[in-house]
Amino acid sequence: MQKLMKELRRKGKSMGFVPTMGALHDGHMSLMRRARKENDAVVTSIFVNPTQFGPKEGFRRYPRNLKKDAKLCKSVGVDYIFAPSVEEMYPEDYATYINVEGHLTGTLEGKARPGYFRGVATIVAKLFNIVQPDRAYFGEKDYQQLLVIKKMVDDLNLPVKIIPCPLIHEKDGLAMSSRNVYLSPEERRAALVLSRALKESVKVSPHSFLRSKSGGTAPCQSVRVSEKLKNKIKEMIKQEPMVKMDYVEICDGKTFEPVKRIRKGCVILLAAKAGKTRLIDNIKI
Ligand code: PAJ
Repeated sequence: MQKLMKELRRKGKSMGFVPTMGALHDGHMSLMRRARKENDAVVTSIFVNPTQFGPKEGFRRYPRNLKKDAKLCKSVGVDYIFAPSVEEMYPEDYATYINVEGHLTGTLEGKARPGYFRGVATIVAKLFNIVQPDRAYFGEKDYQQLLVIKKMVDDLNLPVKIIPCPLIHEKDGLAMSSRNVYLSPEERRAALVLSRALKESVKVSPHSFLRSKSGGTAPCQSVRVSEKLKNKIKEMIKQEPMVKMDYVEICDGKTFEPVKRIRKGCVILLAAKAGKTRLIDNIKI
């Protein structure tokens, strides 16, 4: 793969890269289409990365279907698929890992899934070194992951441009995910509450979150309070007994610091379980 990529670079081709774990859906395809538009050659990796799964997070049962994925890649004009084996990526004596430290990996997904971002950063750095793309495409579906990758690229001076791509939802509102196939029809219906709660929460009249300093009703000195909005989302989700909230948080879209007052550029992020399936979703304000 490195030789092949070197050859393409020598010919002056620009390269776009879309790392995935396969079980491709329209979310992945949107990244590939964008990469196709912006580069001479497009590479996708399909690798279910064991180091980013916790012991009970279903590495073995993660959906795999290389043939079907390859067809989908072809249909959007991907030129190369890199699908290595676990042994190739992590031989028995493998010893090197990348830790992005601090708040960015210590909170939300990082807190809920210890070791997750270490696994992600390690595999993405390895893939970048193998493919050496000009641009790499990541979905805002995994908003925190996107920021972690950006941080790693900045900190390690990796010569690749990270391109964020919008989160794609199913027609009924559920955020597209390879894990959605685990949901029973009832769980799937119940899970719709997540995207609905996020959408509703940003739709509500700003005045419901206004609190004037004087205690009166004049909106002029008011603020929109994150805590109230979070509670509203939690209440909505509580209505669905099949869905168990993990977290809902409102963060600055760049620094990922939690915000007290809602402002433009914030992201509302949540994670919940429908049955045994962990789902995440988010919405930008
Ligand atoms: P995976 O979950 O397969 O996702 C691959 C890429 O597709 C990620 O950048 C993800 O954010 C994006 N994606 C997934 N669902 C999406 C949706 N509904 N809308 C938009 N983009 C979506 O994320 C991973 O794999 C792995 O952690 C990886 C980066 C490949 C490292 O192993």
